[in-house]
Amino acid sequence: MKYPDLFSPIRLGKLELRNRIVMPPMTTGFARDGYVTDTLIDYHIARAKGGVGLIIVEDCIVDTPLGKHGYNDIFIDDNKFIPDLRRLAKAIKDNGAKAAIQLNFSGRTAGKLRDGKLMLTDGRQPVAPSAIAFPADGFVVPHELTIKEIEAIEDKFAEAARRAQEAGFDTISLHCSHQFLIEQFLSPLSNHRRDAYGGSPERRFRFVLEIIQKVRQKTGKDFPIICRISGKEVIEGGLTPADALEIAQRLEKAGVAALNVSHGANPAGLSPRSIAPLTARTKKSSRGEMVPLAAPIKQAVSIPVMTVGSIITPQLAEEILAQGKADLICIGKGLIADPEWPNKSREGKEAEIRHCIACEYCFTSVGGTPLECAVNPAVGREREFTLKKAAKFKYVIVAGGGPAGLEAARVAAARGHRVCLYEKDKLGGQLNMACRLPGKDEYNLFLEYELAQLKTLGVKIVNSEFKSDVVAKEKPDALVISTGAVPRKPPLPGINNANVVTAWDVLRGAMPRNKKVAVIGGKSAGAETAEVLALNDNRVTIIEKTGEIAADAAAMPFYYLALLRALEVLCVKLLVGATAEEITAQGVTVSVNGQRSTIEADVVVIAMGTEPDRKLADEMKKTGIEQYTVGDCAGVDRLAKAVKEGFQAGLAL
Ligand SMILES: Cc1cc2nc3c(=O)[nH]c(=O)nc-3n(C[C@H](O)[C@H](O)[C@H](O)COP(=O)(O)OP(=O)(O)OC[C@H]3O[C@@H](n4cnc5c(N)ncnc54)[C@H](O)[C@@H]3O)c2cc1C
Ligand SMILES: Cc1cc2nc3c(=O)[nH]c(=O)nc-3n(C[C@H](O)[C@H](O)[C@H](O)COP(=O)(O)O)c2cc1C
Ligand code: SF4
Repeated sequence: MKYPDLFSPIRLGKLELRNRIVMPPMTTGFARDGYVTDTLIDYHIARAKGGVGLIIVEDCIVDTPLGKHGYNDIFIDDNKFIPDLRRLAKAIKDNGAKAAIQLNFSGRTAGKLRDGKLMLTDGRQPVAPSAIAFPADGFVVPHELTIKEIEAIEDKFAEAARRAQEAGFDTISLHCSHQFLIEQFLSPLSNHRRDAYGGSPERRFRFVLEIIQKVRQKTGKDFPIICRISGKEVIEGGLTPADALEIAQRLEKAGVAALNVSHGANPAGLSPRSIAPLTARTKKSSRGEMVPLAAPIKQAVSIPVMTVGSIITPQLAEEILAQGKADLICIGKGLIADPEWPNKSREGKEAEIRHCIACEYCFTSVGGTPLECAVNPAVGREREFTLKKAAKFKYVIVAGGGPAGLEAARVAAARGHRVCLYEKDKLGGQLNMACRLPGKDEYNLFLEYELAQLKTLGVKIVNSEFKSDVVAKEKPDALVISTGAVPRKPPLPGINNANVVTAWDVLRGAMPRNKKVAVIGGKSAGAETAEVLALNDNRVTIIEKTGEIAADAAAMPFYYLALLRALEVLCVKLLVGATAEEITAQGVTVSVNGQRSTIEADVVVIAMGTEPDRKLADEMKKTGIEQYTVGDCAGVDRLAKAVKEGFQAGLAL
């Protein structure tokens, strides 16, 4: 066995797990009206079958609407939810994993106004230990809980635990992290009380202690309780690693069976570190970055300690265990991207793991939309997107080796078809440029995965342009056209001047240095290119027509905020509400509110979007051959759409 520690069993109290791999709680947005759905069950079945030891189901709300965290949370505040929760627990256990569920009450973090309304709490004032609003824009001041109200919420946690146990879950996990109510009590930042629940670390601990005691009264002392805590808070004056260690010891004394050490939330109402530094803007790897928070806690307690955060390889997981830094390894996004991560690791097939590329696309689920993964289109479609052998084997030609074409070729070949892929430039398409951007170096993992798979599956790769004469020569049964996109060059006077390049030219190597550069177009592509230009010692101005920079990325908050921050640090000038009217030898003539001026520039970079390259698709339609047009050439979008359409074509063939 290559990873003996990772695949050794472990006990959480009396509960034995088959290995040390834990799927941490991750909001999916798959619940409906608080109920578990079939989509949620199928998603978990795939992960349980994939070999994980313990699944901790995403946070379930112990009291609605006040305790709600998102727009499609699972509820556990009524017995009517038990039958579907039971189906979920059974599905996980029937497929070999143990089942846990996270219990949560959000508190003041539910107090964000949307269109001037408190949508999460149905208009009710949120509650918290003290009347202090979450320190970010748009949060209202919460109601300070009375002692009676505190006791009532403790009872809600205990009732929820009783329901979880009745539904067949092996254990529960209390959410004592990420700025939700339990942590709001623990933290001196949010708890300014001077009664029995605040004023000292011991009194701030009282709320969670009473919850644990009440849960044990309802569920019995053998029912294990896991607590997720923050190894430290981000905000100054908040919980320090030393505080976290003390909390851990108190939790052990209170009878908790295991600890799961995460990271605190940040003041923007978001928790970048709690979902791992997805968008670290340095080339330094963020893998395993939170392990140093768990390691001292592991030394200070004798109950098992879980660690988390971009632990993407089994090698790293094994190393952490072997070095005694933790007892269990949480693999979060890694299991979204590849549910078979544990089985592949156990069987020594690490090269076959489809790794998470840290793109943050899945995090849009926290806003309530159903979870999707950029590299794994089967997420949330587990039943529909299964690979079965094709009824009739075909000769398939794929034209274009970007993500869409690679995925189509992989799926078609896996289903038994004979596949030939044509690529005129570099396999990977636009991803080759994406990988060069700060924080996106892990994108390369997807290309490595696809290329390794195509090799194993015997896909023939032809490094040349697919032209119409190939059809007559090769006589394919079916075509997949995945020719991607090309940069858009609108008819702007001067756009063909010698001082003009596209963002793609820059990212492919035409990098100016020590120059004045104007970037026309301030969506994320323009903003990212501006960042790279500034990192190469250029003085950069972004000219953006609308009032916002990188607005298309706002749904990925960590990436978005990190990008804006990087532009600020690099002193990139942001000219919003400005229309570029002409490019001259001096730079760009812009109009702002009808006022014309010139932005001086030695080099002008066009980042005005891309458009589908449909030429081949239109031409091939005339052949009458079975044909699928996928990815950006069918409509420009993100990686997730390209991979999904590639997968669908592979499945339809
Ligand atoms: C700098 C940059 C950063 C990005 N960052 C992100 C991100 O963070 N998240 C995200 O979701 N998306 C991102 N994207 C977008 C994402 O990369 C694209 O959506 C995705 O690559 C589209 O895949 P595709 O296969 O449809 O097309 P492409 O990637 O464009 O691939 C098409 C391929 O077809 C080849 N080709 C074209 N014609 C022929 C022919 N006749 N014969 C043979 N080969 C041909 C091309 O050479 C190319 O390799 C980024 C894009 C860029 C440029
Ligand atoms: C889409 C998504 C949803 C998450 N939802 C929760 C949640 O409900 N409760 C929680 O404690 N952590 C949540 N997290 C944090 C994860 O449990 C985990 O700590 C984090 O993803 C880092 O681990 P990883 O790098 O292995 O993904 C979420 C993370 C993601 C990506
Ligand atoms: S969407 Fe991106 S960040 Fe999320 S699991 Fe998939 S690859 Fe990882």
